[in-house]
Amino acid sequence: MTEKNAHPHTVSDGLVTMAHNGIVENYLELKKELNGLGCEFASDTDSEVIAHLIAVGMRAGSSLEDAVRAAIARTKGAAAILAMSAREPGVLVAARSGNAGGVVIGLLEGGHAIASDIVALLPHTKSVVYLENGHIARVEKDSLEISGPGGHSVEPRVVVSSRSPAASRKGQYRHYMAKEIAEQPEAITATMRQRVDFAAGRINVPELDLTAATAGAIQRAVFVAMGTSLHAAMTGAIALESLGRIPSTYENASELRYRNPVLDENCLVVAVTQSGETADTLAAMEYARDCGARLVAVVEAEGTQATRLADYVLPIMCGQEIGVAATKTMTATMVTLVLLAASIARLRGTLATGAEKEMVEALAALPALAGRTLENDGKISGLASDIAGYAHLLYLGRGSGFPVAMEGALKMKEVAYIHAEGYAAGEMKHGVNALIGEDMPTIAIAPHDGLFDKMVANVNEVKSRGGRVIALTTEGDEVMA
Ligand code: F6R
Repeated sequence: MTEKNAHPHTVSDGLVTMAHNGIVENYLELKKELNGLGCEFASDTDSEVIAHLIAVGMRAGSSLEDAVRAAIARTKGAAAILAMSAREPGVLVAARSGNAGGVVIGLLEGGHAIASDIVALLPHTKSVVYLENGHIARVEKDSLEISGPGGHSVEPRVVVSSRSPAASRKGQYRHYMAKEIAEQPEAITATMRQRVDFAAGRINVPELDLTAATAGAIQRAVFVAMGTSLHAAMTGAIALESLGRIPSTYENASELRYRNPVLDENCLVVAVTQSGETADTLAAMEYARDCGARLVAVVEAEGTQATRLADYVLPIMCGQEIGVAATKTMTATMVTLVLLAASIARLRGTLATGAEKEMVEALAALPALAGRTLENDGKISGLASDIAGYAHLLYLGRGSGFPVAMEGALKMKEVAYIHAEGYAAGEMKHGVNALIGEDMPTIAIAPHDGLFDKMVANVNEVKSRGGRVIALTTEGDEVMA
């Protein structure tokens, strides 16, 4: 990261200043063309081509708004843009295309503010307008004009957010990720609040407005998401297939969107995106919608693009995640998806007698168990100091432990910058075991479930190759110790 690459980018004569969130896929081609026109680039970013395109348009006589519209038309990829020009003081132009991350306009007393996320606006206002994909906003102190892709005027749709600015404060925590990890017991509780009737032993997800007939007509389900949400989605697919007896798969949205898959009206597509704005997930949703599939969005952020595309919106309801690495939204999403699976299973009549009640009892215990796990903080810190010196780690899991292993490896890479691989434990002997040795510890997700014995066998195999094992297992376990 260098200062010259930091946004906003200003062109050399100061005419245009612009910040961009997204990717300009054809930036090399555009840069060559702009260099040919004498544009001087000050950064190494793809974004700067947009600033120059806008400036070239304005020098040819366009207004800032028209120049932004023309610049977007020239770029390929997702773009959320905020631009201003020395020639039009007091004017900001915001644009969103290719399902780029959000653009939120806050209505303040005596002005407007624009941000990529509502959290930044909440201390100032709860009244906001989410800019739709393909729309451009021209914002002045006293006016807000929005236009659609063809330049036609669009009435701004003002949403009053129900979020509280207090929830966006860090409080006693060193950083938001620590705060959000600690919030998991509450997050899980909030997700279940209106969906689990603990007294009656019933699970119902009211947002999924299906009848027994429509639930019975679902022939298969496809869960799509990216990153951590994909790992949560894996849990959803496992739960729906096992409880609802619906063939269920999960897929990386960035793969699904480009491979022309077969989806139809008998297919339930569940898109998992806590932000509601992940470009690949939105594109996969658009594809599914165009195929006529029934579309569910599992989201945390209200009013976002995913909520507008879906037939059914299931809010995760755990409170917004501010930390970049998803934590509480992951666990709360997993719970939401299990509730979704149970709800569909009941409608389809595939829940075994007593199974729903047993699930409700297990769910009732979940927040306290999450709290107990968090009490191991000291032990976990000790382990972390031990592991910090390694360059490679292996995570193994089976069944419901497999998504957890995948997520563990992702977080280790993303947060600790340690190379880690998540594997289905049974896959280990098909190649990755060649790497096992004293330089690469294995973290085994080994709860006492129906696959525990299999995990024990994998752990023994790791040990026989001289590998160190850290087992995450059920309290009171004597086998792994
Ligand atoms: C990793 C992480 C990301 C997100 C991914 C999808 O810690 O947070 O992998 O899970 O970018 O984000 P959403 O759920 O907003 O679509």
